[in-house]
Amino acid sequence: MAKLLVNAARSKGTINRNIYGHFSEHLGRCIYGGLYVGEDSDIPNVNGMRSDVVAALRAIDIPVLRWPGGCFADTYHWRDGVGPKAGRPSIVNTNWGGVTEDNSFGTHEFLELCRQLGCKPYISGNVGSGTVQEMSDWIEYCTMGGVSPMAALRRANGQDAPWDVPYWGIGNEAWGCGGNMRAEYYADLCRQYATYMRVYDPARPIYKIASGANTDDYAWTKTVAERAGGLLDAISLHYYTIPTGEWQHKGAAAAFGTAEYYASLRRALFIDELVENHSRVMRAVCKDRKLGLVVDEWGVWCDVEEGTHPGFLYQQNSMRDALIAAVSLNIFNDHCDTVVMANIAQTVNVLQSMILTEGDRMLLTPTYHVFGLYKGHQGARQVECYAQTKLVGPEADAVPQLHASASQNAEGDLLLTVANLDEAQSCPVECIVPGMSARAIEALVLAGDARAHNTFDAPQAVQPRPLAVTRAADGFTATLPPCSVAAFTLKA
Ligand code: AHR
Repeated sequence: MAKLLVNAARSKGTINRNIYGHFSEHLGRCIYGGLYVGEDSDIPNVNGMRSDVVAALRAIDIPVLRWPGGCFADTYHWRDGVGPKAGRPSIVNTNWGGVTEDNSFGTHEFLELCRQLGCKPYISGNVGSGTVQEMSDWIEYCTMGGVSPMAALRRANGQDAPWDVPYWGIGNEAWGCGGNMRAEYYADLCRQYATYMRVYDPARPIYKIASGANTDDYAWTKTVAERAGGLLDAISLHYYTIPTGEWQHKGAAAAFGTAEYYASLRRALFIDELVENHSRVMRAVCKDRKLGLVVDEWGVWCDVEEGTHPGFLYQQNSMRDALIAAVSLNIFNDHCDTVVMANIAQTVNVLQSMILTEGDRMLLTPTYHVFGLYKGHQGARQVECYAQTKLVGPEADAVPQLHASASQNAEGDLLLTVANLDEAQSCPVECIVPGMSARAIEALVLAGDARAHNTFDAPQAVQPRPLAVTRAADGFTATLPPCSVAAFTLKA
């Protein structure tokens, strides 16, 4: 029997709610058709935002939403997306399929979406093809409460009060689609941008996030931290799990063999090492100023579904992907002393989505359900959790059978989230929580074949169901089905 030991006496601190953040880009059907259908649509909406999608995201307590990209951000000129819609220019989305972008979803619409979702906005500014002035004006437009040219423009466009936009990104993937820059050059530009990102209301500070490294480019993090760290709050990191490890043939979302299943999980677990190493670099460089790590793009990236636009990045979402979400969130929880935000890519209809839509139909993916099972971790105190478990899978891609994290909320309730990565074997587990005498234990599990997924005809094929637990001294025992994610809540 595997053992889980939870030591509530030791903690790395509070799990930032923003670790459960999301990312939405002008890409494929994420914004248009996914989140936004326009006021005139037959699909039920409030001010153009899909009511079904908004309700589903509210149910998992979405804390923060990153927008407008991604690569799109460094081609985006915010003035194109404000003012009367009839007057907004149509542009070409050069990154994603060369389709027409009519700019009907712009700053006001994004901030209305965040209002409806009850989440914080995180805007990525344009460094690659924009200017310092443009970014500075955008911040003034959104956040200036007094008298100024940009505040006047915002009012003329129908928004009197300033918005609270706490998070601003200084470009995206500046090493790639955001300008193909050298780290040294970007770091200098970053200093310049950061200088003109003004705070107009001291009660609403601005959190400045530099465009960070791709995967294990530690030299990028070091250079940006050394040269610009004093003007920043955080540096980002992007890491995608490519099931096969090959960009040309990434692997299908819901059709793969056992070898690819374990290889994907091993690749997903690599984010632990990445977070650890990037954090170490930042700590070593910025000794007197703590920089946060913002993992603002992560998730599994598969081949697009057959028959769909290759530039739209539409993929199904399987139980394997649910496990990838589970281990990633466990890892972020356990690095809550450095990881201040994470944004899974992307919210609706793109990459590892929470939600897929087809016309007026919507389904919740297995990954969505993981965010539901884990939502109690948001803002809770991380507590130490050790899994005594064997390795499973082929030698080259062996992964721990159990992967877990735990937290305790203000009421003293303990949430333990555990994934059984074994594709075929269930796992009996004994969980020991010394000193905790729980009033009640609630347990839910998401389980199925690794390829199991929800479709528009069977939208509830994969969904959480109750899991039996047996109470024991100082804890409980339970059996986790193969390929499953469980959440145990021990009520204080
Ligand atoms: O999420 C899709 C793309 O992946 C983003 O636009 C870009 O930042 C990354 O390369």
